[in-house]
Amino acid sequence: MSGKVLVTGGAGYIGSHTTLLLLEAGFEVIVVDNLSNSSLESLRRVEKLSGKSVTFYKLDIRETDKLLNVFSEHKIHSVVHFAGLKAVGESSQIPLEYYEQNIYGTLSLLKAMQKYDCRRIVFSSSATVYGDPASVPITEDFPISATNPYGRTKLYIEEILRDLAISDSKWNIILLRYFNPIGAHKSGKIGEDPQGIPNNLLPFVSQVAVGKREKLSVFGDDYPTVDGTGVRDYIHVVDLSDAHVKAVQKIDNLTGVTTLNLGTGNGYSVLQIVEAFQKGSGKQVPYQVVERRPGDIAECWADASLAKKVLGWQACFGIEDMVTDAWRWQERNPNGYDD
Ligand code: NAD
Ligand code: UFG
Repeated sequence: MSGKVLVTGGAGYIGSHTTLLLLEAGFEVIVVDNLSNSSLESLRRVEKLSGKSVTFYKLDIRETDKLLNVFSEHKIHSVVHFAGLKAVGESSQIPLEYYEQNIYGTLSLLKAMQKYDCRRIVFSSSATVYGDPASVPITEDFPISATNPYGRTKLYIEEILRDLAISDSKWNIILLRYFNPIGAHKSGKIGEDPQGIPNNLLPFVSQVAVGKREKLSVFGDDYPTVDGTGVRDYIHVVDLSDAHVKAVQKIDNLTGVTTLNLGTGNGYSVLQIVEAFQKGSGKQVPYQVVERRPGDIAECWADASLAKKVLGWQACFGIEDMVTDAWRWQERNPNGYDD
């Protein structure tokens, strides 16, 4: 199967990996991104790795007129929608910015799609919509809730998409709820390039290992988990991207709304990640235990069997691949794409 896929936020971490895999699968890819949290260098590297070109538009998805121009220039089969803001802590400080960029941005995109009769969308949702789950592993029918503005934007967008599908049966919508994406492409050419101090565990650990930060703060060791530190379902970004390719390949047959967890089904604690990273990189990662981070939950991992049934997808990479690939990217690009 081939055709044109529009990727919003395609210069970002998950977007650049997905763009690469879509190109390799034979799709033509059009990326729109305002580069607020990314650089064009990621797409240049994607082009080199794939030997194919990406059509790029620097625009903000809130600029509906510009999006309409993109749809008028290309007959787009489906949209993979990554663009948005994603920092949980920041979302409590500047909630209006999050609601505007994520929710208004999505409305703008959906209106442009509707006008050009393009009704197939794959949306980046998050395991954050499960709030503090009553038990693990989490299945897609668990109740959803949010504890911060970022999580609420994901939850509201999911609801908006469900309303849209009810109003018009021609929409095919896939909501992908990611657990914790980490790692990088095997080539070491593309990876996660956080601006400033990383919020997430893996980029922080990588920056400690490469000597950019002194030590990791472990947020609490008194959770009811295997060793007291938080447990998450880490998933290799290439596995995650592969699920998007399969979603695009299957979307014509998936009418209405399909909601899928993307995880491995395995949970690892913070200290288990530190240990795996040290083993994979041969570097020491000094750490100290500090207070719990407000809003964190004890443990969270997926039942990902529905994605296997619906998409024929399952994660292939284990934790060793995830940390080794993260380290290769960090070691070769200590300053991210600025190098
Ligand atoms: P990222 O910041 O690397 O990528 C997002 C991209 O969107 C960036 O290139 C940014 O410049 C662009 N962008 C932001 N606002 C835009 C706007 N208004 N118009 C146009 N472009 C805009 O983030 P990522 O980690 O690749 O995440 C991609 C998506 O996946 C996001 O929607 C995020 O909420 C979701 N998600 C990420 C994680 C995670 O841990 N990384 C987990 C769950 C869900
Ligand atoms: N952690 C530390 N020290 C750090 C960073 C994180 O100990 O410096 C711990 C956290 O307390 C948690 C674990 O490492 O136990 C993972 O934390 P992350 O910040 O990497 O990831 P979260 O699970 O908190 O959140 C991520 C994304 C969210 C998304 C959520 C969905 O950042 O956007 O996964 O599960 F909503």
